[in-house]
Amino acid sequence: MRRRLAAGNWKMHGLADSLAAIADLSAAHPDPACDIVICPPATLIHRAADLVLGRAVSIGAQDCHAEDAGAHTGDISAPMLRDAGATTVILGHSERRADHGETDAAIRAKTHAALRAGLLPILCVGETLAQREAGETLGILSTQLALSLPDEARDHAIVIAYEPVWAIGSGLTPDPDQISAVHAHIRAEMSARFGTEMAGATRILYGGSVKPANAASIFAAPDVDGALVGGASLREPDFSPIIAALCASC
Ligand code: PGA
Repeated sequence: MRRRLAAGNWKMHGLADSLAAIADLSAAHPDPACDIVICPPATLIHRAADLVLGRAVSIGAQDCHAEDAGAHTGDISAPMLRDAGATTVILGHSERRADHGETDAAIRAKTHAALRAGLLPILCVGETLAQREAGETLGILSTQLALSLPDEARDHAIVIAYEPVWAIGSGLTPDPDQISAVHAHIRAEMSARFGTEMAGATRILYGGSVKPANAASIFAAPDVDGALVGGASLREPDFSPIIAALCASC
């Protein structure tokens, strides 16, 4: 059985006073039937991790460098994130691909770094609207998975997040049956490369405009093991009903 996962991606949002939202979330879900992780900006990771110590909520990061240490001004390595209290790291988000020119090869190196450091990678893949309209969705996802997953993933837990670029922050989502079809494709690709056991254990999240109003229908779709939530994860009153819908679907 795959334990379902609700992951919040705060992106470049959050100052010290936002820690209250993490405290509220953690208090609202003392013993959830699913895993919960919040990925705040790097500046809050240490304080957030202290805040949730011994609680059900864990803390993740939104990116890491491919090397463990070195002359890379402004970058943060996977061992540093682990040292600060992160358990998880989002990698390959489409905003990083677009804003920082991250290639699949760069994401593969980062994913390997995360695994070396003992972090759980949440690897994001997804098609643009033009690619979807051209009927290229499954092919694009196959390529992204093939090039951005290192061979070392075989021996580790890893999470894949299917995030159609056109659904992120737009209020648009694919139909639940379209999400299921894509997730089944991702699992088949994982199975072909890493074997059925690893593929069966891999959690596949959906991300892109998940809200309290659409969460239950998305979580009822076969092969959806949780969600990567952006905007609706910033406030406890928005994220809690999504977590409740996920736990109710377990
Ligand atoms: P959204 O973002 O929920 O605000 O659409 C999702 C994401 O980018 O992970």
